[in-house]
Amino acid sequence: MKIAMVGSGYVGLVSGACFADFGHDVVCIDKDQSKIDRLHAGIMPIYEPGLDALVENNVKAGRLSFTTDLAEGIKDASAIFIAVGTPSRRGDGHADLSFVYAVAREVGESLSNDAVIVTKSTVPVGTGDEVERILKESGTKHRVAVVSNPEFLREGAAIGDFKRPDRIVIGAEDDFGREVMQEVYRPLFLNESPILFVSRRSAEITKYAANAFLATKITFINEIADLCEKVGGNVQDVARGIGLDNRIGSKFLHAGPGYGGSCFPKDTLALLKTAEDYDSPLRIVEAVAKVNDSRKRAMGRKVIEALGGLDAARGKRVAMLGLTFKPNTDDMRDSPSIAIAQALADSGVSVIAYDPEGMELAKPLMPEVQMVDNSYEAIEGADAVVIVTEWDAFRALDLERVKQLAKAPVLVDLRNIYKPDFAEAAGFTYYSIGRA
Ligand code: UDX
Repeated sequence: MKIAMVGSGYVGLVSGACFADFGHDVVCIDKDQSKIDRLHAGIMPIYEPGLDALVENNVKAGRLSFTTDLAEGIKDASAIFIAVGTPSRRGDGHADLSFVYAVAREVGESLSNDAVIVTKSTVPVGTGDEVERILKESGTKHRVAVVSNPEFLREGAAIGDFKRPDRIVIGAEDDFGREVMQEVYRPLFLNESPILFVSRRSAEITKYAANAFLATKITFINEIADLCEKVGGNVQDVARGIGLDNRIGSKFLHAGPGYGGSCFPKDTLALLKTAEDYDSPLRIVEAVAKVNDSRKRAMGRKVIEALGGLDAARGKRVAMLGLTFKPNTDDMRDSPSIAIAQALADSGVSVIAYDPEGMELAKPLMPEVQMVDNSYEAIEGADAVVIVTEWDAFRALDLERVKQLAKAPVLVDLRNIYKPDFAEAAGFTYYSIGRA
């Protein structure tokens, strides 16, 4: 089967490469000529473990190719995926659908065979109807079905998530759409992965509801962590105690500096806008978005307290380890590190940072922060070491060396990667999340 993937960003590229690996014939399309040139040269536009090898193997096998020519790329494709960005619209927080609609228009005008058009981008409920309207308006004579097939890929684990999904959600309104999608996902059908066929609107809502629920779970445990700090408790023990209840589940109960990334902050906001438009308030999600936002700066205040309070902190220096919103990615979007660094700078604390993959994208976002080539360089002369992202490399720090290099042995661990007893036995004054 031939599949066209319009948009070769994170989602499009991972999905395209995985479909090719399933044995389909895939063309990834993008209007950014330099991105396509780099892909032709085997250079990945994003950091994702395993992606370069997957792309290389499938290009070699003749199943995966790249082009900027949409009309040529979609020719003979039975399924045409739209995987372009839906950023927050400036000013109002609604999802900006202009890229999705522009692709729908171009696809309609260029279509040369019957095809199923699939929205993979995260789009508000009702977008599929609008895509269908645009396709009809384009005057195409070919049979089309518009299907919603949201992605649930985690950055850093996207290939595994694609190939071994918890579930696949397909929102289709007719048999043509369902049959083509069944063929697209045949390898996973054979694998007995749960595949849910639902209405298009249900599929669109499912994506937002999943992300909002996960954001809620994280925010809930973050507030329980705050309570643990105040009353004397250990949030990790509490998380384990509640998570072993199957109805709750143990995942996504790691307390930390607040969620970031390309999905949760943007999608919760867009969902709230939809709720507002339909006069159907989502008060829990509203609270989650607010609490998470304020948490990031609160983490900056936590570091200042570890430095001895506002007056003592002024003029001091902090080594920030980890900048990306989570490990195994170079993605800096809505990373807590940005707000923390800002809060520290506002209080006259200087920050020297190191991140294994994120520094290039971080530089323009935090001009006040000096970046160096490794952890120990950042730690030299620092008044406190702050772990913001749980990269494995920071779990294996040589604590003896850290103590010698730092000006003061103060460790602020915003990801709870160390155990309090261990850090204290190593001679550190240790602060963490939700462990009094
Ligand atoms: C998320 C969803 O998991 C995925 O299904 C969706 O398609 C896109 O959004 P991603 O943004 O890659 O994926 O990151 P994820 O691993 O879900 O983490 C999101 C944020 O939550 C990170 O900032 C992470 O540090 C934080 N988090 C996650 C916690 O603070 N605690 C947890 O227990 C889990």
